Amino acid sequence: MYKAQTIQQHFQVSYQYPVIFSRNIFNPENEELIGILRHGSAKAVLVIETAIRECHPGILREINNYFKVHGLHCEVLVIPGGEAIKNEPAYIEEVLTFIHEHRIDRHSYLIAVGGGALLDAVGYAAAIAHRGIRLIRVPTTVLSQNDSGVGVKNSVNHFGKKNFLGTFSPPYAVINDAVFLESLDDRNWRSGIAEAVKVALIKDKVFFDWISANVEALNNRDMTLMEQLVFRCAELHIEHIGTAGDPFEKGSSRPLDFGHWAAHKLECLSGYQLLHGEAVAIGIALDTVYSRLTGRLNAMEVFRVLDCLKALGFEIFHPMLLEEHSLEIHPQLFRGLEEFREHLGGELTIMLLEEIGKGEEVQEMSHTILSEAVQYLLKSSSVFNDNPILIQQSL
Ligand SMILES: NC(=O)c1ccc[n+]([C@@H]2O[C@H](COP(=O)([O-])OP(=O)(O)OC[C@H]3O[C@@H](n4cnc5c(N)ncnc54)[C@H](O)[C@@H]3O)[C@@H](O)[C@H]2O)c1
Ligand SMILES: [Zn+2]
Repeated sequence: MYKAQTIQQHFQVSYQYPVIFSRNIFNPENEELIGILRHGSAKAVLVIETAIRECHPGILREINNYFKVHGLHCEVLVIPGGEAIKNEPAYIEEVLTFIHEHRIDRHSYLIAVGGGALLDAVGYAAAIAHRGIRLIRVPTTVLSQNDSGVGVKNSVNHFGKKNFLGTFSPPYAVINDAVFLESLDDRNWRSGIAEAVKVALIKDKVFFDWISANVEALNNRDMTLMEQLVFRCAELHIEHIGTAGDPFEKGSSRPLDFGHWAAHKLECLSGYQLLHGEAVAIGIALDTVYSRLTGRLNAMEVFRVLDCLKALGFEIFHPMLLEEHSLEIHPQLFRGLEEFREHLGGELTIMLLEEIGKGEEVQEMSHTILSEAVQYLLKSSSVFNDNPILIQQSL
């Protein structure tokens, strides 16, 4: 009998990258970006999304001038952002061609300027070109500055499935420039705040109290407060990724996905009419009420969470939570739980709230209690109070 032999391989790789918070990063006097580029061969190309060129006229001239003043040359590719870039493989091919034609190697840089979708897609191209080139992310939305852009993942959609292709590849650096946030529409400004509420609820009561106390100023687009919110939210995400022991998500637990199982399903059921953060707000509301109905949180805490979300301008209910012309919970929502488990791999793990600022993971959810939670949200929402037919059906 042949005797098999095994050589056990073992090594560790340590990662580190700076996440810088600044303003006007392409002003020649701002040395953040150039300071990073000086570490390497200093050869760089930049991909920027169309919306930024449109909302910030003069940005391309500013970028060219920035590199010229610092004695460098940087080719620029302008490409559409939003979910379209993650759905259309031709855009990945375009970015790869750009990398190839400008002979970007593993010691030169790809700078990506855009929202979470552009960063995911361009980050994916950067991760597969030469098995990984240096990526500097410049996130331009609240959500990408405080959550998606500071982490280690990138992806595109494939086979009609969100984020089906992708890699875990930490960036070389991230530079958040608050000035980009000025041109966001109100929905995208608000959407990213949902991620801050999420991470505050599971990790940091003081941060939740701070958000609740500053709702009005955030709604009035106070930039200084938004910068503080983005900073703390990014810090909590970075801390979690770096210290919780599972940066590349090998296990089943995903605490930062609090409220996300229902959110992912709702985004899909709404045909992506709901923005990610809008869906997350509803998911947070649902799992908060569910936490209460299963003996966690006290009633006052539930009111505080729902009030905060509503005051920020989020809906806490969506008609897609119910079957059409019925008050029954949408069966697809239960399917969302199973899809979430498949996405995580392993066993279902859902984050609930033990109290504000403290999460607690569970391995199953009761369909009956979920239905009760949906009914509760319906009756607490403006959708219900503005809709006589729903009121009639519920009597
Ligand atoms: N990699 C991760 O860990 C991770 C985590 C969460 C979400 N995501 C992904 O992030 C994406 C959502 O990111 P998002 O919320 O930033 O949305 P987005 O990238 O789709 O941007 C939202 C809209 O704002 C526009 N835009 C971007 N910056 C702008 C600016 N400064 N001014 C005006 N308009 C601007 C975009 O063109 C788009 O129309 C999703 O694809 C989601 O899957 C990734
Ligand atoms: Zn999210």
